[in-house]
Amino acid sequence: SLIFVLNGPNLNLLGKRQPHIYGTETLADVERDCRALATELGHEIRFHQSNREYEIIDWIHEAREAAIGIVVNPAAFTHTSVAILDALNTFEPPVIEVHISNVHKREAFRHHSYVSLRADGVIAGLGTQGYQLAIRRVAALHAAAAP
Ligand code: DQA
Repeated sequence: SLIFVLNGPNLNLLGKRQPHIYGTETLADVERDCRALATELGHEIRFHQSNREYEIIDWIHEAREAAIGIVVNPAAFTHTSVAILDALNTFEPPVIEVHISNVHKREAFRHHSYVSLRADGVIAGLGTQGYQLAIRRVAALHAAAAP
């Protein structure tokens, strides 16, 4: 089955962007590892990144018909976007929120997440490994819910 992995603004620069905070792996590396893991678990992924809020919302709407779960790193939209929260609230299967950095160790404005009001789980500060763990969680919740 299909798992959506959605990434917000500036994550296209992963690997180049503040590597002391976000590491040196690129988003292409993350995508490759997510794809390999999904295959291993008998699933598929649809992997997207955008700097535009509406694109992320549109992909969440697409996921409504197609996906068994969403792994989302909304990046800065985490802290600002009621619209992404509202979109996720229209989606019933599991939602796991991922942050590469430990947002709680950083500026106060990163401590609040609109998306956490919907997320079934939140991973922060585990680096890009967080995506892998989130995919495993979606797969496990799906397996547990399957009739
Ligand atoms: C981030 C944390 C956010 O606060 C920040 O705006 C990002 C990335 C993370 O993955 O650690 O762009 O979501």
